[in-house]
Amino acid sequence: MGNRPIKPGWITAKTADIHDLYERSVQCPESEVDLILQAWDELRGKTPSRIREDFCGTSAVAREWVCRNDNNTVLGVDLDEKVLAWAQDKIEKELTEDQCRRVSLVKQDVMHVDADPVECILAMNFSYYGFKDRKTLKEYFSAVHRDLLDGGVFLLDAYGGSDSFLEMDEERDLDGFTYIWDQHHVNPINGDVVNYIHFEFPNGSKLHRAFTYRWRFWTLPEIRDVLIDAGFSSVQVYWEGTDEDGDGNGVWAIDERGEACAGWVAYIAALK
Ligand SMILES: C[S@@+](CC[C@H](N)C(=O)[O-])C[C@H]1O[C@@H](n2cnc3c(N)ncnc32)[C@H](O)[C@@H]1O
Repeated sequence: MGNRPIKPGWITAKTADIHDLYERSVQCPESEVDLILQAWDELRGKTPSRIREDFCGTSAVAREWVCRNDNNTVLGVDLDEKVLAWAQDKIEKELTEDQCRRVSLVKQDVMHVDADPVECILAMNFSYYGFKDRKTLKEYFSAVHRDLLDGGVFLLDAYGGSDSFLEMDEERDLDGFTYIWDQHHVNPINGDVVNYIHFEFPNGSKLHRAFTYRWRFWTLPEIRDVLIDAGFSSVQVYWEGTDEDGDGNGVWAIDERGEACAGWVAYIAALK
């Protein structure tokens, strides 16, 4: 067996590991770590070593972080015991002893993390959209501000574009399964959205609503305003460049002018 044991046609709804499917569908920890290093280089002129991954889930970024450099340490924070157990198992199976020692996972609420301050805090895959009103969002951003060392950077992502306001599905055929992003419900009055991830397999079996996200759809200007209200001194947006076909090219740069396209993802760097 090679290092990709799951071959096309092998997975069914019964045999699937939803956390593995999640990582393979929506995460690219290598590019996220690249972005951390780029932002720190451009905004602070140095490289951080001690970071915290809020809403860490399967710990994909945490694992990548400790593999990048022998000095790197990370604290992963999540509320869900089951996903943390999956993550710990993966860490122990895939990382060296030294790397394992440099990643710690805790079951805590990101609102009240009991840990030493760090240089950099991450909140990726829009997880903070779970905080549905401005007061709660500001409470979270203020907690992050407090938990950062002076000169620290908070890195988070945001999504948007005209399609984000629509109830619609988007399918992607991946290696041995189909990933479906289902924007099931959008309420334009209060910004409430309900999004699902479904998976379908070559034998016709399905994992309907494998993941559910009940979020407030925050717009980028609102997020920037709340970060400033929470005490961050400056908030920069990393916007993605495009190739000749107009598709995202994976090259991120600080920008003040984005393109009003149907769908985009951006990174935000908030400086303490
Ligand atoms: C969308 S997943 C994000 C996983 C990963 N960060 C990523 O980039 O794909 C959201 C995770 O946040 C966790 N979560 C939600 N609210 C939380 C809270 N208040 N404190 C800690 N974890 C929370 C959930 O248990 C879940 O694992």
